[in-house]
Amino acid sequence: MSPFALTRTLPLDATAAALRADVATGLTRSPKELPPKWFYDARGSELFDEITLLPEYYPTRAEREILVTRADEIAAVTGVRTLVELGSGSSDKTRHLIGALTALDHYVPVDVSESALTGAAGTLLAGHPALTVHALVADFQYGLSLPGTPGPRLLAFLGGTIGNLRPAERAVFLAAVRAELAPGDALLLGTDLVKDERTLVAAYDDAAGVTAAFNKNVLSVINRELEADFDPDDFDHVALWDAEREWIEMRLRARTALVAKVPALDLAVHFAAGEELRTEISAKFRREGVRKELAAAGFELSRWWTDEAGRFALSLSVPAGPPV
Ligand code: AVJ
Repeated sequence: MSPFALTRTLPLDATAAALRADVATGLTRSPKELPPKWFYDARGSELFDEITLLPEYYPTRAEREILVTRADEIAAVTGVRTLVELGSGSSDKTRHLIGALTALDHYVPVDVSESALTGAAGTLLAGHPALTVHALVADFQYGLSLPGTPGPRLLAFLGGTIGNLRPAERAVFLAAVRAELAPGDALLLGTDLVKDERTLVAAYDDAAGVTAAFNKNVLSVINRELEADFDPDDFDHVALWDAEREWIEMRLRARTALVAKVPALDLAVHFAAGEELRTEISAKFRREGVRKELAAAGFELSRWWTDEAGRFALSLSVPAGPPV
């Protein structure tokens, strides 16, 4: 088999259709809302990479600390031959894990961005010539169909991105993941943890304004893709902590009453002064909550590691009984 294959399960026009549908429904309902996946065009991905370097944004560093400390243990416990990574992006954090997994011969990065996948595969193959990379262009929220690579398999979902899903969506997602795994396989999940409000809010409202630019980038995406005329300067970046639901929300708040046109959808979007558009939820977790959600999806939590400061957790879980 050639060392690199790419399969597209996401039709080429699916992304454009999904954006149209999300904008049409999300900007005509009250309160207004858009899913966070639309942040990540080339500029948004660049801004996210900048976010991961900010002093206030601790999750990336905390997770990397755990991965570096525990990579050998993960390798020993799982003995994996195939690593599947959901939302792999640049595969930056995974590089260390791949180096430590001694029995690994297949890497299956899954992402919506084909350019991210081919770029990351090139870099990885240069360093690991014996590795077969089977990249998958897919939106894992709409079902997984993984290539038939050899087991045991480790499915990694890192960065705390599961926090972008609401509890009910997480239940569906984790059950779908469980259905892809067999006895002997494992799930490696990154979850950001509940902590003091100041630290959390600062991570999503940094002093340099990078997160504000990232948040407003969704308006530039809509302008470009749907010929809309949003002026990002008409909006303020808002990050707040919902203590009851234990999630961070990012919003864009209209500074004045305004109307934005979205010609591709034949739509005029009215904002009242101060009206907010929710662009992201980022849920934070506790060990017991993660354990319960995993158990409900048919997983048994077998390892729980945090960084030294206890800000972020990486958990390893295994299939428990038949899929649910
Ligand atoms: C990539 C979803 C994990 O929720 O912390 C960073 C995205 N949003 N700053 C997160 C994000 C604002 C990030 N995830």
